[in-house]
Amino acid sequence: MQFQTPLPERFNRMDMKEMASRVSSLRSEFGNRLVILCHHYQKDEVFEFADYTGDSYKLSQLASEREEAETIVFCGVHFMAESADILKKGDQRVILPDLGAGCSMADMADIDQVEECWETLANLVDPLDILPITYMNSSAAIKALCGREGGAVCTSSNAETVFQWAFDQGKRILFLPDEHLGRNVGWEMGVRLDEMPVYDPHQEFGGCAADELRDAKVILWKGHCSVHGRFLPEHVDRMRETYPGIRVIVHPECRYEVVQKADDWGSTEKIIREVTASPPGSKWAVGTEQHLVDRLAAQNSDKEVYSLSGFVCQCATMYRIDLPHLLWVLENLAEGEVKNQITVPPDEAEWARVALRRMLDSSPAGAGLSLSRVD
Ligand code: 13P
Ligand code: SF4
Repeated sequence: MQFQTPLPERFNRMDMKEMASRVSSLRSEFGNRLVILCHHYQKDEVFEFADYTGDSYKLSQLASEREEAETIVFCGVHFMAESADILKKGDQRVILPDLGAGCSMADMADIDQVEECWETLANLVDPLDILPITYMNSSAAIKALCGREGGAVCTSSNAETVFQWAFDQGKRILFLPDEHLGRNVGWEMGVRLDEMPVYDPHQEFGGCAADELRDAKVILWKGHCSVHGRFLPEHVDRMRETYPGIRVIVHPECRYEVVQKADDWGSTEKIIREVTASPPGSKWAVGTEQHLVDRLAAQNSDKEVYSLSGFVCQCATMYRIDLPHLLWVLENLAEGEVKNQITVPPDEAEWARVALRRMLDSSPAGAGLSLSRVD
């Protein structure tokens, strides 16, 4: 595991304007040898330097297509940079400006636990009967296990397409590591709640009865996002009372009870599309990370856009990518020093690539991007 070293003292003395102007001139010096990819949850100070912005699905596609760039600077979190490294072409390198930018959800499943779970399930159900599918928010080692065992990766924008791909093969699913995304998508596809038991890796047999696992259609790993988990059904009620006629749209990492009450749900890209396309005067309550909600509100001044909850819902790890760290990696790169390169070991990368490619092939650009309305 790599740890982030503190930045040199001189970064404390530089003001933001100076840093922005240095990033800007370094950016132009690199030309198309460098590409900066930014997730929608990034701070504005970094977001303004993005060559491309997107949700984790779109960014994974972009990472696999920008062949001309020697260096991909990934302004997002660790699992996204790992996926970019897995999908990169030739000698490209991927840099994460702050190594502390992890994901608490991805940390809720470690490979040893997942291997143990897979073994438990193999003793209960025919291994040919089940596919492991992992959310993008997981380690490369877990993606590799999915690739090896016939499964795939999915993101919030194509989970339904990937689930369908598994169901069409007559398989049941072990879904890692976000129980909420798995439940929301399963339910949308007609799977009953009692057919989706939760497997808790800290308990024997995941805390499930053998029959429950045997009869399951989707086995949900017990993991969640600490940011989206903070949105509650009462927030939906309160917004509707306060702003009559408001539409509620949430990310599928939110709890089932919240998604059920919302008018619509989808990935960060879908949220942006829906709000942007709505007529002037529309009112929206958005259940996702604060930076995206604030940017949507600023870009849609003819509409009213609010966070679904009254408190600030920020992703603390996305937040670690800031202007000083972006400048630090670019300055070092300009001097020939590669800082914070994310490298997935080749044996892991090989199978993780298989799982990622199954996702990209089963949901080509644009497909699966519109999870439908929840009635
Ligand atoms: P998207 O797939 O919508 O980009 O979401 C990724 C994520 O980490 C949300 O918490
Ligand atoms: Fe992970 Fe949640 Fe942050 Fe997304 S918002 S990166 S799932 S902790």
